[in-house]
Amino acid sequence: MKFTRRDFIATTAVAGASLALDVPAPAQGDQKPGPVGGPPKAPVIICAANGYAYLDRGYAVLTNGGDTLDAVMQVITGPEDDPNDDSVGLGGLPNEDCVVQLDACCMHGPTRMAGAVAGVEGIKNVSLLAKTVMEHTGHVMLVGEGAQKFGFKMGFRRENLLTERSRKTWQLWRETMSSDDWWGPGLASPKFKFPDTAGNISELYEERIRHMEKLAERIGIAPEFRMAAIERVLNPPTGTIHCSSINAKGEMSGATTTSGLAWKIPGRAGDSPIVGAGSYADQDVGSAGATGNGEENIKVCGAHTIVENMRHGMSPQEAGMDALKRIVRNYNGDMQKLAYVDMSYYALRKDGAYAGVCMWSGAAEKPRRLAVHDGNGKRYENSVALFQGKSLGWPPMPGGRRLAPEQKH
Ligand code: GLY
Repeated sequence: MKFTRRDFIATTAVAGASLALDVPAPAQGDQKPGPVGGPPKAPVIICAANGYAYLDRGYAVLTNGGDTLDAVMQVITGPEDDPNDDSVGLGGLPNEDCVVQLDACCMHGPTRMAGAVAGVEGIKNVSLLAKTVMEHTGHVMLVGEGAQKFGFKMGFRRENLLTERSRKTWQLWRETMSSDDWWGPGLASPKFKFPDTAGNISELYEERIRHMEKLAERIGIAPEFRMAAIERVLNPPTGTIHCSSINAKGEMSGATTTSGLAWKIPGRAGDSPIVGAGSYADQDVGSAGATGNGEENIKVCGAHTIVENMRHGMSPQEAGMDALKRIVRNYNGDMQKLAYVDMSYYALRKDGAYAGVCMWSGAAEKPRRLAVHDGNGKRYENSVALFQGKSLGWPPMPGGRRLAPEQKH
């Protein structure tokens, strides 16, 4: 689908439209009443929306009596192998140095084992690499060159993960934002300063986009991807995929994989490879995972927090909402800052109840969603949002990224 200049301006202008704390209605999968019961009648598998196309093959593993982590891997290796999904694996958006560095972790409920890798270059299926660390070492986490060397020894193939499309998007960022990067005080720092909003923001914003369109054309970015590339430059994405599954025996597993925050400082690891932040599974209770701003999620250990909340009686939706509210608390409810925070959680309880929750609902025409398969066919469901509107992307780049036209401080 072509993402036009008008769509881009319209969707980025939604942020801040409604900053009031919502009281969300229960999500569809959250409805199972009463205390946490036994296993569901049929297997259930949930994931971030970008895993939708691969849910069937994950579900088939579960219905054929296969392992719950193998089912999860069937889903998340799909986007890892897809060069057009630029949030994960092959084709992931690179770091500041134009190098793709990948992170992943997994937890296997039946054996209570975990594996993780961070900052891995040249191996696209880091989810499987994390699983290999889990299965073939006495460690839980390997990083950087060590993780890569281990992967090659274990038979993983070296591949160039940088697609020409992602490289050109990086070039657009580099040439547009040449004085802006991830250095300097972050959003949580008392020294943080909002971008300079002096002048006519609307005009400056439009002018900036016009300039970027010309630059994108010169760089050779395909016309149909041009506005999407500009969006990735202005709102560096933290796209990721998480997947959790349960089979009819009540066995559960989960995993998360990502190329991390676009244009990150080399060596930066987000939440996805952190067991307890990006993914956590305890099949006595449930499994949960995260996509979004890794830095914020690490500070609330989101996935672990959600599982512990379910252990103490919360529904999946309540458990996820509580984790989001912990992020809100970390900013003392400062909506100017929270406008930059994007976070989605996915929670699956041991009775098959599930929920997707998110900090911001997203643009009306493109709401935040999760993908579900529970035997009644696969489908998307809207995640339940704490706030209505679209986040501004995180963090604002000092002097570089202009706020959307209608956003006022
Ligand atoms: N959640 C992905 C990242 O922040 O790296």
